[in-house]
Parts: sequence; structure tokens; C-alpha cells
Amino acid sequence: MELAKAKDYDEMSMKAAEVVFDKITGSDRLVLGLATGSTPEKMYEYLADKLNKSNVDLSHVYTVNLDEYVGLSPEDTQSYHYYMREIFFDKVNIPLENTKLPDGAAADLDAETSAYDAMIEDLGGVDLQVLGIGRNAHIAFNEPGTSFESGTHVVDLTETTIQDNARFFEKTEDVPTKAVSMGLGTIMNAKSILLLASGEGKKQALRNMIHGEITEDVPASILQRHPDVTVITDIEDIEL
Ligand code: GLP
Repeated sequence: MELAKAKDYDEMSMKAAEVVFDKITGSDRLVLGLATGSTPEKMYEYLADKLNKSNVDLSHVYTVNLDEYVGLSPEDTQSYHYYMREIFFDKVNIPLENTKLPDGAAADLDAETSAYDAMIEDLGGVDLQVLGIGRNAHIAFNEPGTSFESGTHVVDLTETTIQDNARFFEKTEDVPTKAVSMGLGTIMNAKSILLLASGEGKKQALRNMIHGEITEDVPASILQRHPDVTVITDIEDIEL
């Protein structure tokens, strides 16, 4: 595991954008795993800016997102489909057909989850996976207790996650209680991983992830077993 420290959220976002930019411009073909949430917002802003300034053609880039809420259609303004278009896809010249997210509104969610894993496999697997981390150390929507071997699956969100994500919705009751999420096994198959963590609220989760016991109670702790993880954080007192 590698750790890069940043002095604040802005610097963390810029460093992360540089890592992704270099991967995009240094590859003939790239499968990029993408995350949502507030943490990577500014990274997308910097990345879009850098790509546009350098006129980078993105037709060789395929993106697969980590997760989507169950019951929200891609047009719903609270959906991760919408988030990705607003924050990144609509700002760069990536062909929209190259961008994949799980369909949380699928009638047959079991079929959707296996199709999502098959689609990632058909693409040849994820080259670089961007991750955030939840306060309870969830990654994607893999809540504590999720099997380390899990593929894409339907998740019951924990109360902590529902409360944490309520800020994006008008009322807490509007937060979906289920999501479709890449599994921990899916994430571990990515060739490299870039995890971003910002703010004191994530300190304990990050410490447990880096130094704690590798246990399904701390989903992110599985990353200790991954051969190529880079963490960028603005949190002080975090060491490897
Ligand atoms: C959400 C997302 C995760 C994200 C995490 C942290 O529930 N499913 O992919 O990393 O929670 O979110 P934030 O960056 O807003 O703190």
C-alpha cells in the first residue's frame, strides 16, 4: 500500500486527478472503475479540466461505476447515473456508450447483478478503480459483514449509511434502503486501486483499514491484501 498526504481537500483532489489523467493518457485502452459520493467530486472537476485543456480523446476509455441505488431510474436527479453525467461524463468527450453503471431500476435485479459482473469480465477487468470510504469503512456499498468473495450484489444499506447520505436528499425517508453494488471480490480484482479519504470523520475508518485486523466487519480492510493500492488523504496522523 502507498500513502500520499495532501494538505487539504483541494490538494487531494488535484493529486488524484493527476493519477487518473496519467493513466488515461498513458494507455491505449483503459477500464476505469469510478466512485460517487462527495469525496471524488473535485477530482472529477480537475480531471475534466485537465482532459479538456489537453484535448484528450477518450474513445479508448471505458468506465464502470461501483454502485447505484435500487429503485432510482437513470434520469432521477438523486441517482448515481445522474451524478456521473452532471459531474463528469457530460463535461468530457467520452462516448456515453462506454460508460456503465448498474441499473438500480432493473425489473430483475439478480439478472442485473450477474450481467454487471459478466460485462466487467468482457471488458477485460478494471485497470484502475477509484474508491471513497464510508465512516463504517464500507467501500462501494459493501457494508460491514459483506463477504470478501462477493461479486456484484443487492445490498441492504445500514442506518449509518442512510443517515450519511441523507444530506443529498430532501428527507431521510427519501434515501433508498437498498443498492446494487460491486462486491468486495469484484473490487479486489481491479489491477490497481486509488482510494481517497478526506476529513476527520474518516480517520478511524482509514486507520482500521490500514492497520486493523483484516475482517469482514471492516470491509475496506481487505485492501491490505491487494498488491497495488494508493491512498491519498488530507487526514493528519495517518501513517502506513
Ligand atoms: C457512499 C458511496 C461510496 C462512497 C461512500 C463515502 O455511500 N456508495 O462509494 O465512497 O459512501 O461517501 P462520501 O464520499 O460522500 O463521504
